[in-house]
Amino acid sequence: MITLNVNGKKRTVDADPGTPLLWVLRDNLGFTSVKYTCGISECGMCTVLIDGDAQRSCIVYLDEVLESEITTIEGLPEDHPVKVAWIEKQVPQCGYCQPGIMLQAADFLSREPNPTDVQIDEAMDNVICRCGSHPRIKKAIHLAARLAVKQGG
Ligand code: FES
Ligand code: FES
Repeated sequence: MITLNVNGKKRTVDADPGTPLLWVLRDNLGFTSVKYTCGISECGMCTVLIDGDAQRSCIVYLDEVLESEITTIEGLPEDHPVKVAWIEKQVPQCGYCQPGIMLQAADFLSREPNPTDVQIDEAMDNVICRCGSHPRIKKAIHLAARLAVKQGG
């Protein structure tokens, strides 16, 4: 048995230490917001926060995260600027890609609290949205940055 810290709670799973984190989050723990698409770190659908850093869980293995804080979109507070801005700007279309993209945005804003359009493009172009939501993602990230200032951080 292996114990992981996911969304602020210790969770015990019966899984091999060499299992990709993606499968354990989805199949063992039921966090189906974490999507499987390419499986080779190309699309960003499986992105989660690991100790605050956006990482692609399809290429992270259980034995690499035993001491880490893992956050899926369910673990991001409801008043997090990214969640509030995503709703306000109505970013999702089908929604499939959005959990991973939102977590990547949260990590990006934690490092770049007042980003330019160019910085947003550079940070977010490597996550794929087949519905073409990137223009709304850019607007939402600008709004989230402003909301974070209002929230004091
Ligand atoms: S499924 Fe992990 S990056 Fe595509
Ligand atoms: S909202 Fe449909 S794939 Fe991004």
